[in-house]
Amino acid sequence: MKIRSLSKSITNVAFLCSIVLFFGCRQINGQNKYKNAKETPEVRAKDLMSKMTLEEKVAQLSGLGNSHGVFGDVKAGIFGTKGNERLGIPTLVMGHGITGVRSGRDVAVKSTYMLAPIGAAATWDTDLYARASVAIAKEMVALGQNLNLGTTLNIIRHPLGGRGWECFSEDPYLTARMGVEHVKAMQANGVISGPKHFVANNQELHRHDINNELEERALREIYLPAFKTAVVEGGALNIMAAYNRVNGTFMCENKWLLTDVLRDEWGFKGFVLSDFGKGVQSTVPTALSGMNIEMSSAKWYGAKLVAAVNNGEIKEAVVDGLVYDKLFTMFKMGLFDHKWKENKEVVHSQAHQDLALEVARKSGILLKNKNNVLPLALEKGKKLAVIGPNGKRYVGGVYSEFLQGGGSGGCYYFEDAVKNPVDEIAKLAKGMQVSYARGAHIELKKKQKKIEAKTLIPDAQDLADLKKNDKQLIDEAVVLAKKSDQVILIVGITGSQESEGRDRKSTRLPANQERLIKEVTKVNKNVVVVMVGGSYFDASPWIDKVDGVVNYFYCGEKIGQAMAEVLFGKVNPSGKLPISYPKSDSQYPKGSIFKGGKYSDKKISNVYAEGIFVGYRYFDKEKEEMRFPFGYGLSYTSFEYSKLKVKKGKVVEVSFTLKNTGKMDGDEVAQLYIHDKESSVPRPIRELKGFKRVSLKSGESKEVRFELNDDAFAFWSPTKKDWTVELGEFDIEVGANSRDIKLTETIKK
Ligand code: BGC
Repeated sequence: MKIRSLSKSITNVAFLCSIVLFFGCRQINGQNKYKNAKETPEVRAKDLMSKMTLEEKVAQLSGLGNSHGVFGDVKAGIFGTKGNERLGIPTLVMGHGITGVRSGRDVAVKSTYMLAPIGAAATWDTDLYARASVAIAKEMVALGQNLNLGTTLNIIRHPLGGRGWECFSEDPYLTARMGVEHVKAMQANGVISGPKHFVANNQELHRHDINNELEERALREIYLPAFKTAVVEGGALNIMAAYNRVNGTFMCENKWLLTDVLRDEWGFKGFVLSDFGKGVQSTVPTALSGMNIEMSSAKWYGAKLVAAVNNGEIKEAVVDGLVYDKLFTMFKMGLFDHKWKENKEVVHSQAHQDLALEVARKSGILLKNKNNVLPLALEKGKKLAVIGPNGKRYVGGVYSEFLQGGGSGGCYYFEDAVKNPVDEIAKLAKGMQVSYARGAHIELKKKQKKIEAKTLIPDAQDLADLKKNDKQLIDEAVVLAKKSDQVILIVGITGSQESEGRDRKSTRLPANQERLIKEVTKVNKNVVVVMVGGSYFDASPWIDKVDGVVNYFYCGEKIGQAMAEVLFGKVNPSGKLPISYPKSDSQYPKGSIFKGGKYSDKKISNVYAEGIFVGYRYFDKEKEEMRFPFGYGLSYTSFEYSKLKVKKGKVVEVSFTLKNTGKMDGDEVAQLYIHDKESSVPRPIRELKGFKRVSLKSGESKEVRFELNDDAFAFWSPTKKDWTVELGEFDIEVGANSRDIKLTETIKK
């Protein structure tokens, strides 16, 4: 009896519970489904939208800035979009995670300066870049960011482009393979990834209105592939539409690219942001093109978009579509559920610093090593002169521009973390006498006043240097060089010469630095040059006068240590060029950097006349002699390539043996190119379709494998308007760089 009544009361309780649950669920399912994390992002986004007014929806479609050109709430250091308190929509906080973290424009927020894309590409190490990107993502989350305004997947069309350092390469395949790692790493760690600037954004002059005319084949084969890979393979949930026009249409109004290609062909499910300030130029055409969010203010969306719906110029369903993409993405990424948290301690943790060191160690490229001058021998008492402006940060130089490019791609790093190369060299040069002379100013003269205002703690020598003219600095350097046994010249540029908004003026070193090299090499024959910058340098005036050249693209905060380790042989250099080094920039296709007038004034377009022949594709076609070809880089050891095997099938399997035949352990970046022997359209002499960084102990051999699917053999057919593989013969080429093919086999498709 007792048991029965107990069971009865259990039944009652269960009944009551189920009623509570039923109504509870109805509450969630009926009214607040979007709050239920168990529902799909699609259901949640639709449910939330059904509760929003038109004004509330439109408010989701623009940035936090209060007037045109204002980059968000600068004071609060926030870029982003507004939340909605009534409905519990969180603020979307945007930052840059390209080199490290840049939180809005808040210089007080610092992070690990991990790398610059071009420095990462010089490692050709996708696994390392993936790990480094995870670290950047974790720091972004710790610093409160949900969306990365990056990374930059534009192609380096010409080395004067001010943001070349923010890009990976002149080659679409290398750019795509690196870029996709970044996207995956970011999104797996809580940060929406926003590759930019979509698309054909290749220089800074007239950046807000330039019209780039290019054929579809060039778009498909050169400028779009990295974005496509980021979306199709990486699942990128955001894209930033560029300022420029493509074939007459502003990218923020370009329905063909933003909707037909991006969404309908590639299956993009996220939302598009405009580039900031001047990206959007209209209300209705922008909304109809599929451009979701106007950054950084509500000049063209906001009230104007509400009015356009109310007066029937545009259907509310269009606005709904734009809002849905954003909310869907935020649900998918768990932002409503506040899924992602990182402890602040992750910022500049030892593990992240170690990663930065790994990047810098693998990024340096040995370009010249006459008579094996490098690595330098450690000889007691030897007098070593370190000369040059990139050897030591200026007194108060805009610190985040030292050893980094300028503009939004850069991060605000911890000053103390970026050591002066001269100090790192002195640490390793045990028993040697190390002296430093600046030799030349690096910052633009005009900027120096501003720079002094931002001064860190000046050291007396630096302050004195700043007041000298270049002649004095060069004279002092010559005196030092004369009495030294060995000179290391650390030259190059910084963010004050190459930056967002500012193209480089010349591919040569600044004139004062060329003079410095000339004068120093007159008095000392043992000179090694270390170049630091974000793109190609024309070295013709001085390269024959020096024995050794090491090239560093910006590659993170440990560049100084890595440089010293390479110079003294503690690390075997293994980076390779992600761009070509012709003998001079006159070898680039004419017009590939546009210096003409503004499009809107005179309607003069920038014509991409070289079509698909960008970078080494062009130089190969024109049989131009290279100083150092694409993919080039020396090592302190030597490698042997042998036993190429190619197995045909649906997937072509390629394998070969790589052996370290020298005395030092080292890494080789082996490259695979394809040459279509006969084709109905002009095709490049060779195109990169695979690469692998392989570590080999002295004497060790490894088998290296690649798989090639049809994509590797295809071209974009302008007549079929599709990717096409033409039957016939293809050379499979394996080599150490694009002009040093070691093994070839021809196959028939
Ligand atoms: C740049 C973008 C950047 C944005 C926000 C624009 O001027 O072109 O790359 O993300 O500003 O700083």
